[in-house]
Amino acid sequence: MAQASANSKPYNYLLQLKLLPVLAFAALFDVHSLTTTRQINAAVVNISGRQRMLSQQTALLSLRMVCTPFKSEREDLHSKLLQSIDLMEESHDGLIYGNPKLNLPGQPSLTLRAIYFQPPLDLDQQIRRYIAAVRALLRAENTQLTQDNPHLGYILTAAATNLLAALDAAVSQYQEESDLEQFSVDFQQAELYQQSCDAAAIAQAQAEKLEKALDDLKNTQAQLIQTEKMSSLGQLVAGVAHEINNPIGFISGNLIHTDKYTQDLLTLIRLYQEHYPNPVPEIQATTEDIDWEFLQEDMSKMLSSMKSGADRISQIVLSLRNFSRLDEAENKSVNIHEGIDSTLLILQHRLKGGADQPNIEVVKEYGNLPLVECYSGQLNQVFMHILTNAIDALEEAASCEKATDKVLRIRIRTTLINPQRVQIAIADNGLEMDEAVHSRLFEPFFTTKPVGKGTGLGLSISYQIVVEKHGGSLRCELLPGEGAEFQIEIPTQQSDRSAS
Ligand SMILES: Nc1ncnc2c1ncn2[C@@H]1O[C@H](COP(=O)(O)OP(=O)(O)OP(=O)(O)O)[C@@H](O)[C@H]1O
Ligand SMILES: [Mg+2]
Repeated sequence: MAQASANSKPYNYLLQLKLLPVLAFAALFDVHSLTTTRQINAAVVNISGRQRMLSQQTALLSLRMVCTPFKSEREDLHSKLLQSIDLMEESHDGLIYGNPKLNLPGQPSLTLRAIYFQPPLDLDQQIRRYIAAVRALLRAENTQLTQDNPHLGYILTAAATNLLAALDAAVSQYQEESDLEQFSVDFQQAELYQQSCDAAAIAQAQAEKLEKALDDLKNTQAQLIQTEKMSSLGQLVAGVAHEINNPIGFISGNLIHTDKYTQDLLTLIRLYQEHYPNPVPEIQATTEDIDWEFLQEDMSKMLSSMKSGADRISQIVLSLRNFSRLDEAENKSVNIHEGIDSTLLILQHRLKGGADQPNIEVVKEYGNLPLVECYSGQLNQVFMHILTNAIDALEEAASCEKATDKVLRIRIRTTLINPQRVQIAIADNGLEMDEAVHSRLFEPFFTTKPVGKGTGLGLSISYQIVVEKHGGSLRCELLPGEGAEFQIEIPTQQSDRSAS
């Protein structure tokens, strides 16, 4: 939990950075103003077009109103004509001076002002005269509504000629200006979009950089913890080995003399027995008490067993020193099998069965390997991590499968794949590994073990040592129906790294 909360801060920050492009985009676009511009342009173009349509409609209505013999139809046409001419006047004023209700901004361009107020078109004057003529016709008495009414004559002529030409000029000018403005808006939008893409790319790159820095930091942290752990273990092992080395030296050294002195003493006693076959009763009693015959025999057996015990201790000390190899910062040619054996020796206490732990059989299938140039101390750490994991997995299997009495086994195979490359495969026959676990094995801090038992660093560090430090590869193959096999491959010479 502590880990998750410690990580959440930078991740939140990263999330914000990833959102930044979206925010930047929203900030760059004044969406409201873009929409308003579009709406105003559309309104201006529509209304200028509608003016043209109204001029034709009012001319037609005027003619029909004058021609109809029916009173009611005339009244109906009268009201329609009034409505249309009012609308035409309102729109005209709106186009020139603005009308928020109709969404018209007014303020026509210089070209449009020329169309409205300058010859030859004089649209403003023409419209106003036209409107005046229509209104005059609307005010006329019924008797005046004849086909030769001068207002009607003016209306029909203007609607077909001058006014129509001026309105057409205005409509096409409005359309052109709107197209131009739309183009500039589109252009501006494209530019803004480009800017926001650039901002997004920069933010993305920064987020990636930060994410990488965070990953590096986690790896470094993991490495530090692990290095600290392993170097403490290495130091401890080296210290113990050193402390035992001296006394075992005295014991081994003195055992040789002890053996010789004992043989000398036994020879001396035998000589005495030969030359004084009838000793005093006290010596006779003691000879029987100490069971002289058995003592002679057992003494030499005891000494040889002490000697082999001391040899074994010396061997263990050598293995411990071999395992720790803290002093070796640079790579050296070593016997890989020695490294595996010394690691197994350190783990011996976990392999031997006992009251509360199962027995684990180790099967070694060592191939014929050359000396391998490597950082042996670090490689031993890798063996240690993988073997410890295998033991953990087998113990777990044992606790689940008590009834089956299955033989728990670790199989260690070494192979010379080709003259440049060796493989060390460590397999266990524990429980089948979950695919979800398999896919995350090498992630730092990934563990399925209870708190306090696993830190989830063993395999990620092993991966780093094998792949990055040695230019090798580390894979985990799932064995169908049983546990897993970890395959370490490394070059035999560090100079072969690139070739491999
Ligand atoms: N041989 C194996 N069989 C089954 N699962 C394994 C085996 N080796 C590793 N795993 C799984 O991979 C996880 C990660 O292993 P790793 O060695 O990185 O961390 P750990 O053993 O949990 O903790 P640490 O090694 O830091 O004490 C383990 O928790 C375990 O679930
Ligand atoms: Mg582990």
